Amino acid sequence: MKRSIPELQHSAQPLVMVTAYDYPGGKHAQAAGVDLILVGDSLGNVVLGYDSTAPVTLGDMIHHARAVRRGAPDTFMVVDLPFGTYHTGVQDAMRNAVRVIQETGADAIKMEGATPEILQVVQTLTRNGIPVMGHVGLMPQTATAQGGLRVQGKDDAGARATLDGALALEDAGAFSVVLEAIPARLAKLISDRLTVPTIGIGAGVNCDGQVLVTHDLLGIYEGEEKKIARRYAELGRAAREAIAAYAADVRAREFPTRDNAFVMKDDVLDKLY
Ligand code: KIV
Ligand code: NA
Repeated sequence: MKRSIPELQHSAQPLVMVTAYDYPGGKHAQAAGVDLILVGDSLGNVVLGYDSTAPVTLGDMIHHARAVRRGAPDTFMVVDLPFGTYHTGVQDAMRNAVRVIQETGADAIKMEGATPEILQVVQTLTRNGIPVMGHVGLMPQTATAQGGLRVQGKDDAGARATLDGALALEDAGAFSVVLEAIPARLAKLISDRLTVPTIGIGAGVNCDGQVLVTHDLLGIYEGEEKKIARRYAELGRAAREAIAAYAADVRAREFPTRDNAFVMKDDVLDKLY
């Protein structure tokens, strides 16, 4: 059954979150018993083939999240608000978040950052009953401005800003905060200081939960090997081998066989000649 926010916040075990982008993804994640599914805007990289998350639209997120929901009706589902959909004012952010909730059946939305503008959005959404998951550290939507996809919070100013951002998100009403690509000790400190659970990716083992991009853990997305991920399967290779085996069978007329074909009565066929 779907975990409630208080249940998620008081979990004795580390929270497990994975991303999903479609119906089978949602189905497998739910059957595996994860605590939360994230329809991440990593959609842009691992499913849509963009080289960043910036081109992903609200329409893309809604389209994919609806499919995930059909596969995972009973799992807590968080949907990323994509780049540009919560940056043009509190009213726009509210309207876009409401669309996601109404059109996809999401339980919560996630957004990146902890600027005063973002904090105001978080406060408005949470006061109006939309649960918000925060996200600090490496923030892919604005990675170019952060100096690229690299570890954050390593120096004095960066560590302070990351801690303050996470604390401010909790104050603004976030029910949980993702910590992406920050040093493990900083993530532990933030996790100790926050009341709400932290969910880490590339943030060490002492967060309150972990999240991975499913296409990384399944070996479907075979971009550069990621230090922060672990491959539990080689589905990309399995898919290539399976398609190649099918191609070879077709060329050798070994597929389809009689078992794959339909039959008809001889006398019907005879009339055609
Ligand atoms: O989009 C995503 O997959 C994410 C996770 C990596 C936290 O934001
Ligand atoms: Na994301």
